[in-house]
This record gives sequence, structure tokens and C-alpha cells, in this order.
Amino acid sequence: MKFKELIFSGVQPTGNLHLGNYLGAIKRFVELQDRFDCIYCVVDLHAITVWQEPSELPHAIREVTAAFLACGIDPRKNTVFNQSQVAEHAELAWIFNCVARLGWLNRMTQFKEKAGKDRENASIGLYAYPTLMAADILVYRATHVPVGEDQKQHLELSRDIAQKFNNDFSQSIRDKGFGDAFFPLPEPLITGEATRVMSLRDGSKKMSKSDASDFSRINLTDDADAIAQKIRRAKTDPEPLPSDEKGLASRPEADNLVGIYAALADTDRAGVLKQFGNAQFSTFKAALTDLAVAKLGPIGAEMKRLLHDPAAIDAVLADGAERARKLAGQTMNAVKDVVGFVR
Ligand code: TYM
Repeated sequence: MKFKELIFSGVQPTGNLHLGNYLGAIKRFVELQDRFDCIYCVVDLHAITVWQEPSELPHAIREVTAAFLACGIDPRKNTVFNQSQVAEHAELAWIFNCVARLGWLNRMTQFKEKAGKDRENASIGLYAYPTLMAADILVYRATHVPVGEDQKQHLELSRDIAQKFNNDFSQSIRDKGFGDAFFPLPEPLITGEATRVMSLRDGSKKMSKSDASDFSRINLTDDADAIAQKIRRAKTDPEPLPSDEKGLASRPEADNLVGIYAALADTDRAGVLKQFGNAQFSTFKAALTDLAVAKLGPIGAEMKRLLHDPAAIDAVLADGAERARKLAGQTMNAVKDVVGFVR
């Protein structure tokens, strides 16, 4: 069965939105909106899988929304909302909890990383996180999901869940007239030069919101001085830049900075090295700073402007949620019929 092409993706409101979130995800959300129907979600139900201060969560939700808008996502053309306003996400996640297998979730590396040594004390939500993620996507029967490299395993699990649901309920799906597959198998879109932006302090570690050092990441709200300082202090090696991509192979910090430059400039690593091959890092870092300030400065400024009017942001979310609820409600009703619930 052919499913209508539809994009879904989400970002957690857990503070410190950074360059990795921008280049790996949000920038690409913007590019996709011209070609597809897109649903972009602030995934607050995911955020509370680890403790969130209730007095700070509303700001974090509005901040991600402001980032979406400031980066250029048009909320009239796309559906932009926060997850907790559409109850069907949690409802479908429960059904998926009964489809997914413990063994599948036990393999999830993100849970292992986030739960750390004190696994007994992690929330059940953190463990079940990937089934909610599958529900986010499949409650709209979305077909494509733009994400960074770190979400690949979760996307594979979403496909497994969709496939198992289709198999387990195949008779009922046919009986109810939904053809031979109820859910599409969503495809990850992991493309471009910055699918895994690394820490500025350690080229072997992902740039992340939770890194203790603020110098490890460039935040979307950093001003020009902060951006310049962080790039100046970014870890490098003593060699000049190589003249071709092969020369980046065992140089993670150089590879990361060249990748960042390429993604910000909408080119590729080879193009950057054509320009900066054999240059010293001091020269390259100065150019990277100028580029980063030129690209990120206006985004940070627009976010600040938007955040002065929380009511306007809330109105965008309410409007998006209303539209999302309609679509999600249709899927949920059909799922109830397929599973055999009385409604
Ligand atoms: P989150 O909030 O951690 O990150 C949001 C997006 O940013 C990408 N990303 C990165 N890309 C490149 N380099 C990095 N260093 C980097 N760090 C983060 C992430 O891959 C992601 O695309 N589980 C998701 C949110 C989610 C979701 C979904 C995504 C919930 N439901 C359904 C897609 C579909 C997450 O924690 O993203």
C-alpha cells in the first residue's frame, strides 16, 4: 500500500538548544517544508523522562518553538505544536508498549547512556521512550523523519514496531478495509555534512545539551562574543588543514570543524578544503567564527524577540495542536477498530 509522503520530527524542550540540533535537525526541517507536508513537534512528554523543573518547562517549550520559527519554519504551512496537547501520542504509545518486545528495548544504546550506572533508578518513561517516539511518528502515519545520526536506532525500532503491528493485526487490518498494511515503515532522513556534530572540547564526544562544559557547544542563543570565544578555544591538532577529505580521517576535531563550516555554508567538506586546504587553524577558525556569527546571530536575536511575547507563541502551539489532534484522532479511531476496542 502506498502512503502519502509526510514528514514528522521532534525536538525535546530540555534547554541549551545547540548547533548540533540546528545543523542535524532544525535547519533541515526548514529545507523540507517547501517540498512536503511537515509536522514539527516540541516533545515535552519525552522531556519529562528525566526530571524537569515545572517552573522552567514552559519557557523551554516556548524556546524550542521560537527556535523553529526563528530558523524559518512557517507555522501556517506546517503543523507546529507541543506533544502534550495531543493526547493520542500517549494513547498510541501504550498500544505500542504492548507490541514492542522487551528484548528490543534492551538493545537501545541511548537508554544505556542516559540511565548510566544507576539503571534501577531510571524512570520507566526513559526506558519506554522509543515506543512513544514510534507513536509520535505513526500517529500521523508519517513516512519520513529528518533526524541526526544519534536517532537512527530509535527510527529502526519505530520501523520494527510498525512492521509487527501490521503483521500481528494483519487479518483485522484487512477485515476493517485498511488494505495490507496499516502503518508505513518510516524512513530516517539522515543527510548532509553535520549529521553528528561533535563537542568542541572533545572530537570523540557528541555535542550535547547535557555536557557540563558550555564550551563544548555553541548554543542557538549565544551572542557573537560567546561564539567567537568558543570557536577560538575549540580543540584542534597542530597540523594545518589537509587539502582533501581523506586527510580528515584520523583527525576528529578538524573533521568536526570542517563539517560545521560545510553545513553552515551549504557546501560539502571537499568544497571547504578547496578553499582552506593547508591553512592554519587560526585562519580557518576566524573564517568559521564570521560564518557562524552571520548565520546564528540573526536566529538568536529573532528567538529573543519572539520570546518577549509568550502569548503569541502559545497561540501558534494551540493552533498546531488543534490541527494535529484531528489527524491523530482519525488514526487512533482506526487503531481502536483494528485492535478490537469498542468505541
Ligand atoms: P533531541 O531533542 O535530543 O535532538 C533534536 C534533534 O537534534 C539532533 N541532534 C544532533 N544532530 C547532529 N549532531 C548532534 N550533536 C546532535 N544532537 C542532537 C537529534 O538527532 C534530533 O534530530 N528522540 C528525539 C526527539 C523525538 C523525535 C520523535 C524525533 C521524539 N519523538 C519523533 C523524530 C521523530 C530527541 O531526543 O531529539
